[in-house]
Amino acid sequence: MSSPPSFDEFAKDYAESFRGLAGIPGKKWHDYVTRWRADYLNRIAQEKLGNLTSIKALDIGCGIGLSHAYLSSLGQLSGVDVSAVSLGIAQKQFPQFAYQLYDGKHLPYSDGAFDVTMAVCVLHHVEPSERMSFLSEMSRVTRSGGLTVLVEHNPFNIVSQWIVARCEFDVGVKLVYPRKLKSLWEKTSMCDVRVDFLWYATPALLNQRMEKLLRRIPLGLQYSTVATKA
Ligand SMILES: C[S@@+](CC[C@H](N)C(=O)[O-])C[C@H]1O[C@@H](n2cnc3c(N)ncnc32)[C@H](O)[C@@H]1O
Repeated sequence: MSSPPSFDEFAKDYAESFRGLAGIPGKKWHDYVTRWRADYLNRIAQEKLGNLTSIKALDIGCGIGLSHAYLSSLGQLSGVDVSAVSLGIAQKQFPQFAYQLYDGKHLPYSDGAFDVTMAVCVLHHVEPSERMSFLSEMSRVTRSGGLTVLVEHNPFNIVSQWIVARCEFDVGVKLVYPRKLKSLWEKTSMCDVRVDFLWYATPALLNQRMEKLLRRIPLGLQYSTVATKA
């Protein structure tokens, strides 16, 4: 991981600093992206596993829990991170969810403890040499038949590159290419690894079918890998 304590430093103003980045209608845009991505996570979980209320999920690298207000339909939600300050903010805002600090290496949960594990914009903060072990841990705590969903910035998208280059907590990070990530997942006990490109297009302009078509076009702002535990 690049520098875990730095997120303690950014935690208090995390939402605001991120909101300022896009420049466009800043706050509204970032809220929109956060909501859209959470809805996508809910949709994937529902499509693959059925009833959301019976799903036990873990958000790895959850930070201040920005998206957690939109994940409350899940039966149970836990968050884990290397930043104690971020977790303190998350726990204060969402007393109903369970947050835990960890060392960035060994997740403090037993094998197969969760139906779904997710990590949003975390892997590029993990050193390339440690990414395989991050994915293996994610896979370990996912139950057989359960899902891992990992969202990352798309290095093929010029706007994403522009945003990352201007983000104060992304200094020196190395973005992860979708094909590379897929090949890393295939070395774990996850199977049926799929890459979805996330365009964050407005629902008013697109119906679900269009969104599914766009998922295949590798130019979205971010992308997600969805995999099933063997
Ligand atoms: C860009 S923030 C994303 C936070 C959150 N997932 C979100 O979407 O708002 C990256 C987060 O990853 C955390 N992080 C960095 N290295 C980590 C690791 N090895 N394991 C878990 N979290 C880590 C940081 O502390 C930070 O909270």
